[in-house]
Amino acid sequence: MEKNVIIELKNVSKHFGQTYAVEDFNLYVKKGEFITFLGPSGCGKTTTLRMIAGFELPTGGEILLNGKDITDLPPYKRPVNTVFQKYALFPHMDVYENVAFGLKLKKVSDGAKMRKLTNAEIDKKVKNALKIVDLEEYENRDISTLSGGQQQRIAIARAIVNEPEILLLDEPLGALDLKMRKDMQLELKEMHKKLGITFIYVTHDQEEALTLSDTVVVMKDGMIQQIGTPEDIYNEPNNAFVANFIGESNIYSATMTGEKKVRFINHVFDCVDEFPKNEKVDVVIRPEDVHITGEDQGMAKGKIVSKIFKGIHYEYIMMVGRNELVIVDTRNLEIDKTYGFDIEPDGIHIMKKELTANIYDDAYIDKNNRVVISESAFECDITSLVPGSTVDEEGYVVGPDGVRYDFTDADVKAEIGLKDIDILDDEQSGTVSGEIVSIIYKGDHYQLTIRTPQDEDFVLDTEYTYDENDLVGLSVKSEKIKLKLKGEAKKYAKK
Ligand SMILES: Nc1ncnc2c1ncn2[C@@H]1O[C@H](COP(=O)(O)OP(=O)(O)OP(=O)(O)O)[C@@H](O)[C@H]1O
Ligand SMILES: [Mg+2]
Repeated sequence: MEKNVIIELKNVSKHFGQTYAVEDFNLYVKKGEFITFLGPSGCGKTTTLRMIAGFELPTGGEILLNGKDITDLPPYKRPVNTVFQKYALFPHMDVYENVAFGLKLKKVSDGAKMRKLTNAEIDKKVKNALKIVDLEEYENRDISTLSGGQQQRIAIARAIVNEPEILLLDEPLGALDLKMRKDMQLELKEMHKKLGITFIYVTHDQEEALTLSDTVVVMKDGMIQQIGTPEDIYNEPNNAFVANFIGESNIYSATMTGEKKVRFINHVFDCVDEFPKNEKVDVVIRPEDVHITGEDQGMAKGKIVSKIFKGIHYEYIMMVGRNELVIVDTRNLEIDKTYGFDIEPDGIHIMKKELTANIYDDAYIDKNNRVVISESAFECDITSLVPGSTVDEEGYVVGPDGVRYDFTDADVKAEIGLKDIDILDDEQSGTVSGEIVSIIYKGDHYQLTIRTPQDEDFVLDTEYTYDENDLVGLSVKSEKIKLKLKGEAKKYAKK
């Protein structure tokens, strides 16, 4: 254990009945670090912070402060102060009184006995705290005459006046407007530097987390997804959730087709990561890592279908087959025109995928209400696209409200479980046929990857033995294909 660790969470969990707010949390925070918990609403950020503050007891695991278990230490004995989103200032007291309030109640040890702070001691501390938040001149102002940003600074002054070793900040800028938030971010960073203490910060704003922090902890469903510097998190996301949460990204399901070769959006690209051949992976490509070229000069091509000016660059959406590729470029290019593009090998970030189902992002519905995956049309339950709907004799989906939908050519995401694909020895008799390209023994069954002539893969679990290169047919029961519409159903409603 490094010796400059101030706080450590070991296997910490917090369950509220059936809700797992925090699950097996392992983290250490170094002295003086600015660390941020980042994640969507309900992922357990506040709960974790409250356990560190002592307002909430973990249901499992332990929290160490300077190497000592503090599970039984009440909040007021912890060298920790919290700043909340709601400032909770006393409206009937002026700025000075608000900041001094806690100090007047505080007792300090004076040799053998405890005593209150003297007025002179309080005055010195209050003035110092107001100086740090840059509000020295505001001592006698009424709280109600201050702006939101100034009130937030008073709330911070009130927390730091106690000279905590750790300052906990739970979305402290959440109530401020954008401009004020940006200013306060810079000031917080300044304060952190001036104070030299540890900041544990909570936000669901990824930009804020990346700007402020030395270390970012990305959370989802009470679990840590990744811990790293802002650069690590941005450039080397651990999984698709992190990549998506951290910024505008292109994320695709992909397959390794050879050494440092990966296939997605119907093309094979060179990459720098090594994964076994035929492994299913996710790839992330940042919009700034795609370089637009002349139509026939690139590794692949596509048509620009949308263009938005973003101040210093344009953001384009290019359709590459049925896949969208987001690209940023400073050049002013033409919409509805086909361009080529390149992606450098180190612009392709590959992440291991825990395969739990076959997911086809670029499936669509044909005019016979079947779902087309890799040029093969599968029977499916089209009514699943509109809850409570039925299909009328003309083939239109009819919602419970009587609205008729025509889903012909609608883009969908299709999901098929690994156990839901039936394998047929006669390659002609299935909906789709292909070659077995890999067989992995998984303890009590085999996991096969079957590749179609269109280069699409179907992965399935089976107890039976097959050989590599066998040609087989595949079929899927209609109710086993889960469909999700990519746009809104409204778009397909018929007048
Ligand atoms: N006292 C409680 N009793 C029951 N469930 C709770 C309690 N506190 C939190 N939870 C649940 O625990 C989960 C995590 O909540 P938490 O407040 O830590 O999330 P958060 O990441 O801070 O979210 P937000 O960004 O919305 O503030 C949620 O599902 C929440 O409903
Ligand atoms: Mg919260």
